[in-house]
Amino acid sequence: MKWRNQLSGSPVWAGAISNREAKEQAAVKVSRLVEDQQVIGVGSGSTAYIALEKIGERIKDEGLDVYAVPTSKEAEMNCALFGLKRTTLTAAKPDWGFDGADEVDNAGRLIKGRGGALFAEKLVMASSPKTYILVDESKYVHKLGEKYAVPVEVDPRAVHLVETKLQDFPCEDIQLRMAAAKDGPVLTEAGNLLLEVRFSDIHDGLEKELSAIPGVIETGLFIGYPVEILTV
Ligand code: 5RP
Repeated sequence: MKWRNQLSGSPVWAGAISNREAKEQAAVKVSRLVEDQQVIGVGSGSTAYIALEKIGERIKDEGLDVYAVPTSKEAEMNCALFGLKRTTLTAAKPDWGFDGADEVDNAGRLIKGRGGALFAEKLVMASSPKTYILVDESKYVHKLGEKYAVPVEVDPRAVHLVETKLQDFPCEDIQLRMAAAKDGPVLTEAGNLLLEVRFSDIHDGLEKELSAIPGVIETGLFIGYPVEILTV
């Protein structure tokens, strides 16, 4: 979460940014790809924020016109802050996009969704011919699910149904994502719940199998999308 500092007028990232230096190097790489008049899918999270910061510098220095399809309200606010013009998937098709990830394996398969923006992130990724995934070394895993559970976005009315259906999958643990203050569940921008599911086996077909459960809105498994991993 970020907001504009009212006193200085400068953008503020409220959360800690881990590995900032490495993320900055990947962000500079992606900022160099931007061309005037392009439509770009803009991911969510701290790495995407740093990339926007770098793109903003180019917009300011070179007077570029860049259009953004943001994947969250947070990304939308930051696009406005850094001088990108907002557009939508109904009005324009992205030329390309960029985003971060929570885990990447050596086949370029991803787990995303710590920020809860997985639905729009996947929609924008699937609409873009290529999405650059900006990661530092800490995001690489031998096996998906090594560090993080897979977030599964669920309509609140379906939470018990989905939990029951998940028993048929090879999973070790299912938790409802709770707010940091533990005073209630996290709600996504669409008002849905997030289940954190620890699968014992993440195979290529799992994403589709989960999406077939009534009430599942989206999953944080990103397998088989046109991504290029940009790392440092
Ligand atoms: C948000 C995401 C982010 O891309 C992912 O959580 C990585 O975040 P960060 O760049 O802050 O490490 O999927 O839904």
